[in-house]
Amino acid sequence: QGAGGARWALRSEVAADARFFGLGGRSAGPRLRDGSYRLWNTDPDGAFGPGDDPLYITMPVQLVVADAGTHLVFHDDSWDGRVTLAEGEEGAGSGHDRPGRCEVRMDGGPLRYWVLVGTPARVLHGWAALTGAAAVPPTWALGHHHARWGFGSEREARRVVEGYAERGLPLSALHLDIDHYRGHRVFTVDRERFPDLPGLAAELRERGVRLVSIVDPAVKAEPGQWVFDSGSAADAFVRDARGRRVRGEVWPGESVYPDFTDPRVRKWWGGLYGERLAQGFSGVWHDMNEPVSFAPFGDPSLPLSARHSLEGRGGDHREAHNVYGLAMARAGYEALCELRPGERPFLFSRSGWAGMQRYGGTWSGDVATGWPGLRASLSLVLGLGLCGVPYSGPDVGGFSGFPSPELYVRWFQLGAYLPLFRTHSAITAGRREPWEFGGEALEHAGAALRERMRLLPYFVTLAHLARRTGAPYVRPVWWRSPEDRALRDCEDAFLLGDSLLVAPVLEQGADRRAVRLPRGLWYDTATGRAYEGPGQVLLDAPLSRIPVLARAGSVIPVQRAAENAENAERACGPVELEVWAPAPGRTGGGVLVPDGGDGWEPREAVRFTTRRREGAVVVEQEGAREVGYPVRVRGEGA
Ligand code: GLC
Repeated sequence: QGAGGARWALRSEVAADARFFGLGGRSAGPRLRDGSYRLWNTDPDGAFGPGDDPLYITMPVQLVVADAGTHLVFHDDSWDGRVTLAEGEEGAGSGHDRPGRCEVRMDGGPLRYWVLVGTPARVLHGWAALTGAAAVPPTWALGHHHARWGFGSEREARRVVEGYAERGLPLSALHLDIDHYRGHRVFTVDRERFPDLPGLAAELRERGVRLVSIVDPAVKAEPGQWVFDSGSAADAFVRDARGRRVRGEVWPGESVYPDFTDPRVRKWWGGLYGERLAQGFSGVWHDMNEPVSFAPFGDPSLPLSARHSLEGRGGDHREAHNVYGLAMARAGYEALCELRPGERPFLFSRSGWAGMQRYGGTWSGDVATGWPGLRASLSLVLGLGLCGVPYSGPDVGGFSGFPSPELYVRWFQLGAYLPLFRTHSAITAGRREPWEFGGEALEHAGAALRERMRLLPYFVTLAHLARRTGAPYVRPVWWRSPEDRALRDCEDAFLLGDSLLVAPVLEQGADRRAVRLPRGLWYDTATGRAYEGPGQVLLDAPLSRIPVLARAGSVIPVQRAAENAENAERACGPVELEVWAPAPGRTGGGVLVPDGGDGWEPREAVRFTTRRREGAVVVEQEGAREVGYPVRVRGEGA
């Protein structure tokens, strides 16, 4: 025990029926199968698929769901380690139950852990109380983002934005990758390709599109270059035990690494974000912060002996590695709050650790294009949500290669229901604009995009609720019924908030799919037909849409149709309530957190209840004589 390098192991047993979830972003989840999971943030080097493990965000946080209850265990130790899981078996062998097993082995650090027990909602609430409330992104960040490594020029950036506008496709943000830097140097601009970034930013902003900048931590080791010089003067870069700066290899070539575990360095680094804001960027995308140093073999990161401040305590990379991205996010978030106090920072980060939700979200990283990658995308979002990181999403279409139109549409349809909805791809990969896949794909992607924008007030509400309650926007289907064993094993659908159940198509060629329903009455939102859960139903899933079900009795705040074509900036103005008729003899309800789009003003939740009175559906607003929003009732008996 203690801060030294003493190894320790902890073995525990769980109920025979228990299922494991969490441990950060795992591609082969969300249910964690028997096996060994390493706790070491890792760039898989190239696009990854299910089975590639570990990835960018590992966390010693696991959720155990069993008939007897749900609990979360946090092994509060950032060192390298391994968690080995084995599910139990009921009536194994001679009729006796074999309990599930979990073994945690850490290379050092304290044996210190937290256990939270209760319903999934209570457990996640406690987790947020322990590690911090999730940042609420500005409203525009809940719209659609388009990115690409290699737009290559201002002209191309304009062409893409123009393409969205021409086709009436709403776009909230365009992301510029490392190719807009001069020679891949962070906090610089290639002025030949991007002669007037502030001008471009202002022009796009006018059209309702924000610019987001990639920010990599590694600084080119180049005396005379301002970031390097200023960092050297501030003594900001990681050193080895002999006091020499540790060098690594990243996009700009030989590079040095800020030590974000030093409060002084965070302050210095944060100051650099002023340059990004002056260029007109509205948000930041932290990348390569595992941190990465390209290596032909071995761990592609800093040497374990590299020294870190660790908030003044002193230590080395063995302890600092997993919290490097977290500390960078803190630096960025605090800087943005200070530099632009009226606006909520938009920040998302590839790597991180327990508590990263305080500063922003994350994304899938370089998920491989292909049907397995599509499935892995959902696994990551669900797993991270259960580790307290509610805002994330995949590279829609996959990072690498060329998706077929069908795969692109299915990815787009899934992405439209995930918190971060962003198309992105590698410089060597095919394009990801919705019109690049033929007329049919464009039509279906357009429909998914418009539905996303219609649901924007619901997404904004979920963002506020995530901050207040710790509940992720995207939840496993067992969220409210953890005792339903069949639901615990269901990995191909999810709940979006309390009201919607989304069943993406994850298989090639499918035009129908089985959907497992939690208890209660559910409406297929496309057909209006009602189904009673628990149980499994077979629903149509033509290429034009994926099955989405609404819980009977729910009240979903949506954006009124006429405004759909408008950009996200003005969204959440005219809200209407989509009310799904409660089951006979039942009541229901919903919440709206109105939000002007940005800023810190406290927002009061507006609560609604629904019930049937003499066959009619009645909606009431708590504390008000009349419902302050137009109501549209759907579902049977409406
Ligand atoms: C990394 C990121 C990817 C980005 C690329 C170039 O691979 O994960 O999103 O496009 O670097 O910056």
